[in-house]
Amino acid sequence: MNYYLFLRYRFTSFSTISTITCRAFSEITSQKNGLRAKVLKKVSSKDLTSEVVTLPSLPQIPQKYNRAQFEEGDMVLLRDTQKRIKGSRVFLIGPLKIGNKKEIPGGILDHSNIIGKSVRDIVKTNKDKSYTIHFPTLDEYVVMIPRLMTPIYPKDANTIVALLDLHPYSQIMEAGTGNGSLTLYLARSLYPTGHLHSIDINRDASFKARENVTRFSRGLYSNCISFSIGQCSKILDSMDITPSIYDGVALDMPEPWNELPSIVQRLKIDRYIVCYLPNMTQVLELIKQIKYYKIALATEQVLEIQWRPWDVRATVIRDRMGDESFSVKQLTLNDEIPNQALGHICRPSHEPTGHTAFLVQLKKILHT
Ligand SMILES: C[S@@+](CC[C@H](N)C(=O)[O-])C[C@H]1O[C@@H](n2cnc3c(N)ncnc32)[C@H](O)[C@@H]1O
Repeated sequence: MNYYLFLRYRFTSFSTISTITCRAFSEITSQKNGLRAKVLKKVSSKDLTSEVVTLPSLPQIPQKYNRAQFEEGDMVLLRDTQKRIKGSRVFLIGPLKIGNKKEIPGGILDHSNIIGKSVRDIVKTNKDKSYTIHFPTLDEYVVMIPRLMTPIYPKDANTIVALLDLHPYSQIMEAGTGNGSLTLYLARSLYPTGHLHSIDINRDASFKARENVTRFSRGLYSNCISFSIGQCSKILDSMDITPSIYDGVALDMPEPWNELPSIVQRLKIDRYIVCYLPNMTQVLELIKQIKYYKIALATEQVLEIQWRPWDVRATVIRDRMGDESFSVKQLTLNDEIPNQALGHICRPSHEPTGHTAFLVQLKKILHT
């Protein structure tokens, strides 16, 4: 199987020389291993030709969302051009506005220096410190924007999207909009044809979330979201919506069990609710309440998501540096590390990625 994939890879990468690559590889392998040679012989160059695919032409991306150059309103990720071996420093600034300035390590950066520039261009502060400019990914954005509430971080947000089993025709609901972090992940998975109804009892949180959503990626996902302010069950009970409308529900609030009776009526049969709960005592309370009030939900899974970054990079072995004095902290990738002193770090990162919350996946099991 691996060899088949290898051929396929070579073929897709270097289509014009595929036959030559295939034959040469087949010969080498057949000398080494009879069994593998058998597998390879089945793959003739004719079979490889049938691998050619024609990619569909996608709808043209609206000019507004074609982020090649920075414009007013964009959020910008700045990356220090001095590549320290311990990793380069990054900052998020924006939204860009002509005339605005931002103080960052290494001086003051004028927003006007960035507007009109292309992604990966270099910009300089008033003290000549240089940074490359990038559009933040959703993970970078969520981790770096100022927060009003504790957001749901990428490791959990991506898992919630998977547990809800979403697609671009899903109609879903979230309660506990907060900063709008999970909101963005949910909306991205529904875009462009699905819809998310996001409810928060706190007015300030709801407005902050709207701002965060519009600032990310030029508001690409804004049209997929409707926001409501109020207690979740009260909002749902006040709306004239058909029963069983939602394909999924995400709840990030301290006491989600109080809202379940109203929510379950609006959830489609066999679809999921995912609750984000920091404490195991909350998980137990949720399960007890579902049983006590005979709510038509089954507990599918309780998960704690582990995210274990590793530190994999070059380093200097001090004892082999001889007389030269240096500071590892200041060392950059541009500095020449003498061969005899070059080593590699390859271990789980020191930074703790501790507990965030438990994810409880519930499934609607009866028509209500
Ligand atoms: C931790 S924050 C949510 C953070 C958000 N998920 C994010 O990723 O940015 C919890 C939010 O739940 C809201 N909340 C608490 N109880 C609620 C309820 N019964 N109905 C609607 N919102 C509620 C709070 O106002 C608060 O904004």
